[in-house]
Amino acid sequence: KILILDFGSQYTQLIARAVREANVYCEIIPFHKQFEITSDLKGIILSGSPCSVNDENAPTVDVAAFVEKVPVLGVCYGAQLTAKLFGGEVGKSNKREYGRAHLHLDVQDDFFNGISEGSQVWMSHSDSIKTLPEGFEILATTKSIPIAAFKKVAGANPLYGLQFHPEVYHSTEGKKLIHNFLTEVCHCSQDWTPASFAQETIERLKAEIGDAHVIMALSGGVDSTVAATLISKAIGDRLHGIFVDNGLLRKDEFQQVLDIYAQLGLNVKGVDAKDKFYSGLKDLTDPEAKRKVIGKTFIDIFQEEAQHIKEASFLGQGTIYPDVIESTSVNGPSVTIKSHHNVGGLPKEMNLKLVEPLRYLFKDEVRRVGVELGIPHDLLFRHPFPGPGLAIRILGDITPEKVALLQDADYYYTKALKDFDLYEKVWQAGTILLPIKSVGVMGDERTYESTVALRAVTSVDGMTADWAHLPYEFLSHVSNEIINNVKGINRVVYDISSKPPATIEWE
Ligand code: XMP
Repeated sequence: KILILDFGSQYTQLIARAVREANVYCEIIPFHKQFEITSDLKGIILSGSPCSVNDENAPTVDVAAFVEKVPVLGVCYGAQLTAKLFGGEVGKSNKREYGRAHLHLDVQDDFFNGISEGSQVWMSHSDSIKTLPEGFEILATTKSIPIAAFKKVAGANPLYGLQFHPEVYHSTEGKKLIHNFLTEVCHCSQDWTPASFAQETIERLKAEIGDAHVIMALSGGVDSTVAATLISKAIGDRLHGIFVDNGLLRKDEFQQVLDIYAQLGLNVKGVDAKDKFYSGLKDLTDPEAKRKVIGKTFIDIFQEEAQHIKEASFLGQGTIYPDVIESTSVNGPSVTIKSHHNVGGLPKEMNLKLVEPLRYLFKDEVRRVGVELGIPHDLLFRHPFPGPGLAIRILGDITPEKVALLQDADYYYTKALKDFDLYEKVWQAGTILLPIKSVGVMGDERTYESTVALRAVTSVDGMTADWAHLPYEFLSHVSNEIINNVKGINRVVYDISSKPPATIEWE
C-alpha cells in the first residue's frame, strides 16, 4: 500500500483517488500520526498544505527517516518541506503562482515516462523553492519557477518533489505522473480491484465475525446495501437487517427496496413505523427540531427491534472513507450547519462491536464493488437522499397528506428526468413543498393550491454544488406533468441557487 501524509491540503483526497484509480490501495493519515513502516508499505506521498514551511509551527515529518525505508514523493508543501529539511531554501515567491503553467523537462527520468514536453500543470502556492539541497537535481522547470520538479540523486530509495499539484484535474498528465510514481518508482502491483476487494473483504469478515450475529440498519441507499451484501456473503442469514419505513421515503420506495433486498438474498425485516414518526413530528416546523425528532425516533425503533435479536454482538454500518478520514485541521473547527441524521448514527451504548466493510472506500469505489456484487444499477446510481427524507423537503409542519402530495410530485419529476435521460447527468434532484398557496385557473375554475419547487444540482461530493442548467423544454414538460397529475399543486418553480450560499436541501 501507499501512505499519504496529510498536511491539511484541500486536494489530499484527490491524491488518494488518483492512487486508487491505478488499482493501488492507499490510506490518508494526518502528518502527525505515528505509523509503522511495514513490508507492505511501498511508498509515501506528502500532501500540500495551506501553511508555509517557514511558519513558526509549520507541520513537519522526518522525511530522511522515511526515505531510508521507502520511496517518497512530496507534492507542493510536501516538496518544499523536503527541500528545506535537506538543507535547501524556500521563500516567498516574487510572484504568487496560481493556475496554469507548462513544464519544461530538463532531465530524462523514469518518473517522467510518457509525460510530454510543455505538459500543462496546475500551480497553487505562494512560496517556492529557491535553492535545492546538495545532491538534488532539477527535473523540470516552468516559465516562472526554476524548480518545478526535483529528485534526490543518490540514496537508499528515490525521493521526488513536485511544486505543482499532479492530483488536480487541470494538471492534464498529473495522473500519469502519480501512476509512474506507483509503478516505475515504487513498483506497486496494481491488483487492488473491486473484485479483489470484494473477495478479500468477504474472507476478512468471515474471520472477524466468526459464528456471531450482526444487526444492521439499512436505508435503501448505496452504502448500506453494498455493506450488507458483503456481510451477508460472509455470514448469510446471521446478518439481521432492519429497514424502517419512516413515512418520509419516496413513493413506493419501501416495498421496492424490500424487493431488491429479497432479490439479493439479504435477511432484512421491514418495519412500518410511519405513525410513530408522524406523531413525533406533529406541529413541528423548525428544521433542526424536525431533524432531532427523526433521529431520535429512528434510534428508539432500532433499539426496540434489536431487543428481538439477542444473539447479535456486532453492528454493521455502511461508513465510507470520507466519513472516516481524520481531517487535518490547521484553521480550527467548523460550525454545524445541519445536524445530520442517517442510519450510521447509532448510539455507542448499544455495546456492539462495529463492522464497517466500506470504511476505506470512496463513493465511486463503493458503486464499483456494488456492480461486482450484482446489485441492480438503479439502486447503485440513485441520487443521494437525506436520512430525514421528505420531512426536510416539506417546509413547515409534516402531515401524511403533505407527504403523499410531495411523493406524487417527486415521482413525476424523477420519471421525467429518467425519460429525458437527465437523471444520471445531475448529482441530486428533488421536489420541495412550499408552505404557501397561490391562485390559479384550471378550466374555468379558480384554484387556490400548493407550490412545489424543483431542485437539481451538479456536484462532485455535495460540499459545493451548482444548480443544474436543465433545458427549458424539460422544465416545461415536468411542470405540466406535475400540475396535471397531482391534485393540490397548481404552481411549479425552479430553484436557481448554488451552494454556497444556499444548501442543497431547503432545511
Ligand atoms: P445540504 O443540504 O447540506 O446537503 O447542502 C448536502 C447533502 O447531504 C444530504 N443531507 C443529508 N444526508 N442525513 C443524510 O444522510 C441528513 O440529515 C442530511 N441532510 C442533508 C443532502 O441530501 C445532500 O446530498
